[in-house]
Amino acid sequence: MKRKHTPITMLTAYDFPTGRACEAHGVDMTLVGDSLAQVCLGYDATTRLTLDEMVHHCRAVARGSKAPFLVGDMPFGTYQAGVDDAVRNAVRLVREGGVDAVKIEGGVEYVDLVKRLTTVGIPVMGHIGLTPQRQAILSGFRVQGKSAEGAVSLVDSALALEAAGAFAIVLEAIPHAVGAHITRRLHHAATIGIGAGWETDGQALVWDDLVGTWSGHMAKYVRRFGDVRGEVERGVHAYVQAVRDRSFPSPSESYNMPAEAAGRFVG
Ligand code: KIV
Ligand code: NA
Repeated sequence: MKRKHTPITMLTAYDFPTGRACEAHGVDMTLVGDSLAQVCLGYDATTRLTLDEMVHHCRAVARGSKAPFLVGDMPFGTYQAGVDDAVRNAVRLVREGGVDAVKIEGGVEYVDLVKRLTTVGIPVMGHIGLTPQRQAILSGFRVQGKSAEGAVSLVDSALALEAAGAFAIVLEAIPHAVGAHITRRLHHAATIGIGAGWETDGQALVWDDLVGTWSGHMAKYVRRFGDVRGEVERGVHAYVQAVRDRSFPSPSESYNMPAEAAGRFVG
């Protein structure tokens, strides 16, 4: 798709129905992102997510999603302690979680890991720019690569990840010019932007941002393509109201008995 300049679509999914929806509506890659921690599990940071929780949700998505290429985030702490440990944890995501590929946050420092994973047969997606697992050391969520030095180090990381065998790289929250430059410099790895401008090989969004179920902070790059939250609010209110005023259930929503048997129960 990169070679043909066909824009690649990636969308996150966290369970069976969202996985099914990604498949049914033509998404190219489904990502079980560790944004799972916040948008589905109510944690305050992605760093809280465990590997067991990730595996559990990957399995559910995998059951609902056969066609799109399925990528699972390696949770914080599952790939930092060494290559062997990371390989064991990635194998769990593939074998138990059912994902096709794993995503790790970081660049040059993970070259050895990317090589090992691809060597053993696990495709790797990189993730550079704003890397939420490092929000504490980055002093929060902010645009990366705005300075010339910052941009150069992102380019170096992207080139190193590609050389190590990464098939794609997420570029999160970086200036458009940097996203476009990295995309032109990479010949094998596809760039998937989220807040990286319009010239990357593909785009990614978080399910809850796209469909409008998330009520928390919304980054500059998020576009709401739906209003599920409004629909949920309308539906739940209407249900509560209908129960209270006894308009639900109606006779047509209730079961009847045969007339002769019903007779005994009248009054
Ligand atoms: O966890 C996630 O949802 C992600 C995407 C934003 C790329 O990593
Ligand atoms: Na993530």
